[in-house]
Amino acid sequence: MNDYFGLDIGNSSIKIVQVALKKPKPFLVALSEFNIPFGLAESDSDADRKKLVGLIQQAISQTQLKTRNVVSTISSNKISSDIFQFPYMTNEELKFAMKYELKYHIPDLKDDQVCDWHVLGRDIHGNLDIFVAAVSRHISNKYSLVMKEAGLNPLAFDAESLALAKILGEPQKNIVVIHGGAQYTLLLVLINGNLKMEHVVQTGGVVVTNNIAGSLNITKENAELLKRKFGLEKSKLDGHIYNAIVRSLDPIVKELRSVMESQQFKAQDFEEVVLSGGVALTPQITDYLSQILLKKVVLANPWKKIDCGDRPGEVIIPAAPKFSLAAGLALSHYVI
Ligand SMILES: Nc1ncnc2c1ncn2[C@@H]1O[C@H](COP(=O)(O)OP(=O)(O)OP(=O)(O)O)[C@@H](O)[C@H]1O
Ligand SMILES: [Mg+2]
Repeated sequence: MNDYFGLDIGNSSIKIVQVALKKPKPFLVALSEFNIPFGLAESDSDADRKKLVGLIQQAISQTQLKTRNVVSTISSNKISSDIFQFPYMTNEELKFAMKYELKYHIPDLKDDQVCDWHVLGRDIHGNLDIFVAAVSRHISNKYSLVMKEAGLNPLAFDAESLALAKILGEPQKNIVVIHGGAQYTLLLVLINGNLKMEHVVQTGGVVVTNNIAGSLNITKENAELLKRKFGLEKSKLDGHIYNAIVRSLDPIVKELRSVMESQQFKAQDFEEVVLSGGVALTPQITDYLSQILLKKVVLANPWKKIDCGDRPGEVIIPAAPKFSLAAGLALSHYVI
């Protein structure tokens, strides 16, 4: 496999991670985050695409990268996907069956969508776990064009859920991942490290900030500062910040409960809930979620699987949950 780096183009920032294959752990070669204006990454206009390309180039020029090969991802809220089981069959049979099966798993499958599928694993009886994803050709072309215009060589666009499963999954552990970004939140179920379910919830850090701004009648900039300073500290500003955050997180909590109580997972014992993405940095969020979910809640640490060398802990650790996706992309095409 050629050298490459992982590139996460989020709605609020670009994150870059590159590792080098070393034993016993991959070694962190490059790491950076570069803020971008909210809305740019998902905009359809040519002018915004050009701005985004310029910002990606700036982010890259400020990062010690040794390659222009990149593995990136397409936002999960632009993708239709499903994970399902198939009985044992050979690879040839599977290829044939998937031609007919896709339409049952991708609602409104259209000719202008690009589809891909991938065997996640086989159980001891040979049953297959299959991941399918579809994205409109328009979106897929836009992402390819952005890479080309930025002077990059895209080796692949991986699903966010697969990259997160690679970095956060642990064998013999059943976990739920909440990956909360600016615009949306991804919920994942990993059983023994294997991805079994993903759901997108349309709420994230921006909704939290807007709700705080509305509740206190202050600017979004001030609301953002208060959110980062006080988070879920109940006693601050008569509980206004706490209540606004709780209200914003409610759709995530509801969806998470319904997943854990669903027919598919109710017999599973989930050891912990792992909080990833920028929303995980909200002060006191682990305490709050563990109280209402009655589960152990921990912050995602993508550096568990990566040797960070002599980079100081105070640089690497505080923002660690934000880098899960870029780190997962950085590892996704290496066998570790
Ligand atoms: N210390 C903090 N406390 C609370 N929220 C925070 C903190 N730091 C960052 N955030 C929030 O996290 C969000 C950004 O997270 P992240 O970088 O994971 O998003 P993104 O990848 O850019 O967006 P998306 O995944 O939606 O495309 C912002 O909404 C920001 O307000
Ligand atoms: Mg993100």
